Amino acid sequence: MSDRMRVVEITEAGGPEVLKPATRDVPEPGHGQVLIRIAWAGVNRPDALQRAGLYAPPPEASDLPGLEASGEIAAVGPGVDGLAVGDAVCALLPGGGYAEYAVTPAAHCLPVPEGMGLKEAACLPETYFTVWSNVFQRGKLSAGERFLVHGGSSGIGTTAIQLAAVFGARVFATAGSAEKCARCTALGAERAINYREEDFVTILREAGGADLILDMVGGDYIPRNVKALADDGRLVQIAFLSGPKVDMNFAQLMTRRLTITGSTLRPQSDLAKARIADALRAEVWPLLAAGRVAPVMDSEFPLAEAAAAHARMESSGHVGKIVLKVA
Ligand SMILES: NC(=O)c1ccc[n+]([C@@H]2O[C@H](COP(=O)([O-])OP(=O)(O)OC[C@H]3O[C@@H](n4cnc5c(N)ncnc54)[C@H](OP(=O)(O)O)[C@@H]3O)[C@@H](O)[C@H]2O)c1
Repeated sequence: MSDRMRVVEITEAGGPEVLKPATRDVPEPGHGQVLIRIAWAGVNRPDALQRAGLYAPPPEASDLPGLEASGEIAAVGPGVDGLAVGDAVCALLPGGGYAEYAVTPAAHCLPVPEGMGLKEAACLPETYFTVWSNVFQRGKLSAGERFLVHGGSSGIGTTAIQLAAVFGARVFATAGSAEKCARCTALGAERAINYREEDFVTILREAGGADLILDMVGGDYIPRNVKALADDGRLVQIAFLSGPKVDMNFAQLMTRRLTITGSTLRPQSDLAKARIADALRAEVWPLLAAGRVAPVMDSEFPLAEAAAAHARMESSGHVGKIVLKVA
């Protein structure tokens, strides 16, 4: 194994063109970490935010983009139990996925679900960790509740629709075209709302109000989400694609007993992420192995063409996940 590896790095803050192929030293796994020889790396919207200079990596993480990957264990650091060289895994990464090798805590690795290829497995960690922790742990979605997810055709949205439906929720999703809406209903949404033509607030209020909303849009969606919630409803914010600031009347939070919360995955502690991994292994990996939920694949690009992958994601023409072929 060479001690140098091919990577794609962010040369400066900017558009997709600032992503450039380069070579770096292969990292070494520290205590409790593994080194993964990457086969496929998932592309996520936070990678584009990092590239644009809007989402700095945590201090100890690689400065290379890439929050998830699949491949095989190439080396294990001291103190690692239960994983050995050659094991096939998919893993949540603190960064560094746009590369031939990456290190991550062993506790953030999950097995490739039975019957699934490495390409699909690379697309699981970032969205499944995010959806599980925000919809089921923080948002406490339960069977029979009405759940609204915005950006229903996104990597996050396609995962949230399937998981919420399989756990017995009534799913509503917004998306920006009739074709994207059709994909959302095919995945399990009982009602997909083309937000360019219909008002999600009216539709949710007619249905009795949303018990839980997962939102990545923010901006003027914040007061509209509050109106769309049922009494005792919860709003979980995972991004602000339209901005984080808004002028709104908060009295409804009190009079209708609403909760507004949110989180980002990347800055959370290794232990917190390991606990999410444990819950996914127990609750969700059997559903993936049984084919009851599956990643929705949009397109693949060679690692060296990561810039084209970002351009596709930022065009919002995609449905589901974009992946980089590394090996
Ligand atoms: N908090 C966390 O821990 C966490 C973790 C992962 C991802 N995220 C966030 O979750 C969101 C989805 O991530 P992803 O990787 O699944 O991204 P993605 O596939 O690129 O999805 C974003 C989608 O949002 C929709 N959208 C709605 N309003 C938009 C706007 N104003 N600007 C751009 N897009 C808009 C677009 O679909 P339409 O064409 O239908 O509008 C687009 O396809 C991102 O904002 C990401 O930053 C948060």
